[in-house]
Amino acid sequence: MSEQKIGRVVVLLGAPGAGKGTQAAILSERLGLAHVATGDLFRAAVRDKTPLGVIAKGYMDRGELVPDQVTIDMLLERLGSPDAAGGILLDGFPRNTVQAEVLDMALADRGASVEAAPYIEVPEAELVARLGGRWICRAAGHPYHEVTKPPVKPGVCDIDGSELYQRDDDKPATVQARLRQQLGALEQVVGYYRNAGVLKTVDGSRGIDQVSSDLLSVLSAR
Ligand code: AP5
Repeated sequence: MSEQKIGRVVVLLGAPGAGKGTQAAILSERLGLAHVATGDLFRAAVRDKTPLGVIAKGYMDRGELVPDQVTIDMLLERLGSPDAAGGILLDGFPRNTVQAEVLDMALADRGASVEAAPYIEVPEAELVARLGGRWICRAAGHPYHEVTKPPVKPGVCDIDGSELYQRDDDKPATVQARLRQQLGALEQVVGYYRNAGVLKTVDGSRGIDQVSSDLLSVLSAR
């Protein structure tokens, strides 16, 4: 059976806390792309205590990447969903060059390729401050920050009214582990897309609205 065709494919790159989820929510709506976030898929599996969630939880709690085979199978299944046919915005995948190569092959089978890989670049000290002050909503993972993006009503999501909570992996020790273990692989993925000629680096230390506007302009300059 042939695979479902996929439209436009954008890969949003950035370190933990760089603002991928924040920007993906804005860009996916503006560009009409399905927002596919492997971290959100893993968190849903952990919450529902599925076999995938049981495997993923230990890695996530230690700030490590979940093994490639499990992650790739989950991503390929998501690519088969009907909304992916209209194009996708990937957030949190690929995280290493093995995942990047598998993605290229999977997209080729579906008549597509990575059109652009915007990289939200943020200094490490700023990442720690962003993750330490982050709160997200239970219903859909909408991100807030106690200083830079507080909700209108404390503890409640502006968008869907659900409770806000702090992720287990945003505790200071796990944040350090995530940065230590994941920044090297991110550098390799950035190099992979630079070599492919699709990398678009954006200054992520600016405000949320300015970063959105920079991302939209690099994505519209096709
Ligand atoms: P995942 O959920 O992907 O986490 P992450 O990459 O560590 O990224 P975050 O969600 O922490 O940050 P973000 O860049 O989305 O920033 P946000 O917009 O929230 O992955 C979690 C775990 O799952 C991984 O550690 C791994 O174990 C596993 N996993 C996931 N994908 C995997 C894969 N492909 N392979 C293997 N394992 C995988 O913003 C952060 C904060 O900053 C918020 O409070 C926000 O309000 C604020 N903020 C955002 N932008 C700005 C701005 N411009 N100025 C000021 N504040 C801002």
